[in-house]
Amino acid sequence: MKPIALTGLKPTGPPHIGNYLGMLKPSLELAEKFQALYFIPDYHALTTVRDGKELENLTYQATATWIALGLNPDEVIIYRQSDIPEVFELAWILSCFTAKGLLNRSHAYKAIVDDNIAAGREEDKNINIGLFTYPVLMAADILLFGSHVVPVGLDQQQHLEITRDVALTFNNTYGDVLTIPEALIREEVMTIPGIDGRKMSKSYNNVIPIFAPPNQVLKPVKRIVTDSKRPEDPKDPEDCHIFAIYRHFANADAVAAKRALYLEGGLAYGAMKQELFELLEATFADKRDRYNALLNDPDALDKILEKGAEKARAIASPIMAKVRKAVGVSI
Ligand code: TRP
Repeated sequence: MKPIALTGLKPTGPPHIGNYLGMLKPSLELAEKFQALYFIPDYHALTTVRDGKELENLTYQATATWIALGLNPDEVIIYRQSDIPEVFELAWILSCFTAKGLLNRSHAYKAIVDDNIAAGREEDKNINIGLFTYPVLMAADILLFGSHVVPVGLDQQQHLEITRDVALTFNNTYGDVLTIPEALIREEVMTIPGIDGRKMSKSYNNVIPIFAPPNQVLKPVKRIVTDSKRPEDPKDPEDCHIFAIYRHFANADAVAAKRALYLEGGLAYGAMKQELFELLEATFADKRDRYNALLNDPDALDKILEKGAEKARAIASPIMAKVRKAVGVSI
């Protein structure tokens, strides 16, 4: 049997190039070597999203994203977290094996506490328990399926460490019940620059969307920040945000030719932006159509998610039974 790879796409809005290169594309490639499970952690989003209709839509968007980019729901398992009640059962059990101090040290929680302190507010102001125990729910997502590898961005590394820590604590008590997962972090695409050169992120407002209409892709591409070198000036390709994105989409020959042109002089940033835009269109135009068609057919998406949940629960239920037996509750 193939080892299990599991990855969650948090429903936070339409995907951008940073999501695509950092997480979506590497995840899509997993289906070859692993039994791949892809899911939408909608209950994680509930720690912040406060509008039911919006959460539902965001979940559809995330599902449509995976499928438009090429996941075949007949071959892989794609499901919605909230369709798997065992996740919550396991989350409670795991929370009894999670040191509170471990969660106190979680970066995501600490960042909000630090903000509160800096602003002179009470330290737990605006922090709900769901946000505090977010890493435990994530551990349950992972451990419920006996996942061997979990591809994530660098920002999730600590969550994976917490998952492993909790699983080891559990196994120390009951023997080898849970599979200890490995994080799979792809160094080379870790940070994709946004149009201002900082890491591409929705919170920096510097993203290039992948499924937006062409004019909404062209606009941010045109705004990619460059220095003021003239076309004839030699340039360092490693020091150019356009090139940093282009290299992930063009083929090796095209990248080599561009690199030479940067170094020799003769490259105009405006023309390079236009080329990047055309390359993005060539890469995503068909996928955008598919994405939009899927979003217009929520019933079809529901069917896909239901089928996925059924397959996912078939993997989860023997593992859950083992855990219940180990701790001594009703099986
Ligand atoms: N916390 C992840 C994120 O913000 C989403 C997530 C939830 C996840 N559960 C997971 C990712 C399990 C991988 C495995 O991106």
